[in-house]
Amino acid sequence: MILDNFVVFEGIDGAGTSTQLKILKERPESTKIDFSAEPTDCETGRFLRSVLGGKVDLDPKTTAYLFAADRAEHVYGKNGIEKSLQNGKAVIIDRYVFSSLAYQGVSCGKELPRMLNKDFPLPQILFFFDIDPEKSLARIQSRGVTEIYENSEYLTNTRKQYLDVIEEYKNMPSAQGMNIVIIDATKSVEEISKIIWSHISKLPIYNS
Ligand code: TYD
Repeated sequence: MILDNFVVFEGIDGAGTSTQLKILKERPESTKIDFSAEPTDCETGRFLRSVLGGKVDLDPKTTAYLFAADRAEHVYGKNGIEKSLQNGKAVIIDRYVFSSLAYQGVSCGKELPRMLNKDFPLPQILFFFDIDPEKSLARIQSRGVTEIYENSEYLTNTRKQYLDVIEEYKNMPSAQGMNIVIIDATKSVEEISKIIWSHISKLPIYNS
């Protein structure tokens, strides 16, 4: 199922989704949008942060289940995505199903993340920020702290998984109607924000 006015930003670590979300939040038109991210800031998401920081060492399969559980609360929970959309807002989020298919696809194989994520609703627009992992790592390392997936080999494999997953979704009958926009994440911040707004401004919420 595809949800109108629902938008997802995806990309490997350091691809620049957070910078673009920040710019979008500052636009006056953004009062019509609820923003959030995964992992969430619920208890489930906080626990995932400990896993990502390397404080809790889990089997990769357990991590895949935890991301899916965090997502279920994010979509269906009290102040979740479905509620926001029902309340007439657009919803834009940093990371979703595609992060699990790409990152956990690398750490525990494609099958489990696919099974755990097949029933979540899909966004109207998926922005994929594409960047060479060497370039994204240079951005991350200049920030200081790094998480468990932030190394060259892992991100190279994750980017490959993302590109495969996107191809799969392009051909998937249930995903027809999801607009996949691939962004060259090496472009300037201004150029990228223009491209993004050109798509967001066409959402039904701005045109009805
Ligand atoms: P990220 O958005 O990069 O957060 P921050 O910039 O604050 O560190 O997300 C954290 C990490 O979580 C990132 O490396 C990708 C990973 N992740 C998964 O492995 N699977 C998932 O399903 C999600 C949502 C995130």
